[in-house]
Amino acid sequence: MRSIIDVSDLSLDELNELIKTACDIIENPKKYGEICRGKKLATLFFEPSTRTRLSFEAAMYELGGNVIGFSAAGNSSAAKGESVADTAKTVSCYADIIAMRHPKEGAALVAANNASVPVINAGDGGHCHPTQTLADLLTIHREKGGFSNLTIGLCGDLKFGRTVHSLINAMSRYKGNSFVLISPEELKLPSYVKKDVLAKRSIRYRQTTDLEGTMPELDILYMTRVQRERFFNEEDYLRLKDSYILTPKKLTNAKKDLCIMHPLPRVNEISVAIDDDPRACYFKQVLNGKYMRMALMLKLLKEAGTL
Ligand code: NCD
Repeated sequence: MRSIIDVSDLSLDELNELIKTACDIIENPKKYGEICRGKKLATLFFEPSTRTRLSFEAAMYELGGNVIGFSAAGNSSAAKGESVADTAKTVSCYADIIAMRHPKEGAALVAANNASVPVINAGDGGHCHPTQTLADLLTIHREKGGFSNLTIGLCGDLKFGRTVHSLINAMSRYKGNSFVLISPEELKLPSYVKKDVLAKRSIRYRQTTDLEGTMPELDILYMTRVQRERFFNEEDYLRLKDSYILTPKKLTNAKKDLCIMHPLPRVNEISVAIDDDPRACYFKQVLNGKYMRMALMLKLLKEAGTL
């Protein structure tokens, strides 16, 4: 059974195909409104979520299907000590496809290995978040017209930010991209991502603590939240949480066609004064996420023979 744990589970051709489907859904939503009639998505969310869970659910409703699930670990038998493996086996009896978010790295893989329906990783701890990357890719496609020759700045919590890990994994597969990794010393990109992704693919990157000095060269600026829930102590979080706050003044030397992205939720990393700037793309990412999740569920259900 095909599951999606990270974005590298999809080939470049498949990513293109998903973008094509999403664009077709945007153009012809009616064509897709009944395709999943009688099918069920289970959303198993062991961690808080607004966009990811609701966009998966909206996506399934817009395909004509139904949704079951839970939105907190405390509402499930996990609170009684049930394993992820048993939960996955159980839910496979009720649903045609599963979207799961869990605080532990690797939990989605365990679920996939035990489920008899496709499992989509909706975030596993500080590891990866492939469907946010699909939302990001559609946004980049629509804003930049392609995925190559871009200078991409990633700013904030690059250590625990799973959206960053998956986006680097995806964008480093396209030609001519380079990365500027902007973070405090303590929140630098994990060495496994540098080694297994950036070094392995001979991708140009540099690490810096300086956001403003980097601004003029960027085509994309991907801001992120400091991931409070992954810190071992509150003191470190409080010290680091305001490391980077993007304000209109800091954009003075930015390119006119800079694409400002953020997976959201935003705490204070981007001043609300930027929301009306035409370069702000973070609410476009939200909408694009729904279309890409529709495209991904359609693909996996077809491959599973369910559709
Ligand atoms: C992100 C996540 O859950 O990793 N949110 C999301 O899904 N859009 C980013 C975050 O929580 O900071």
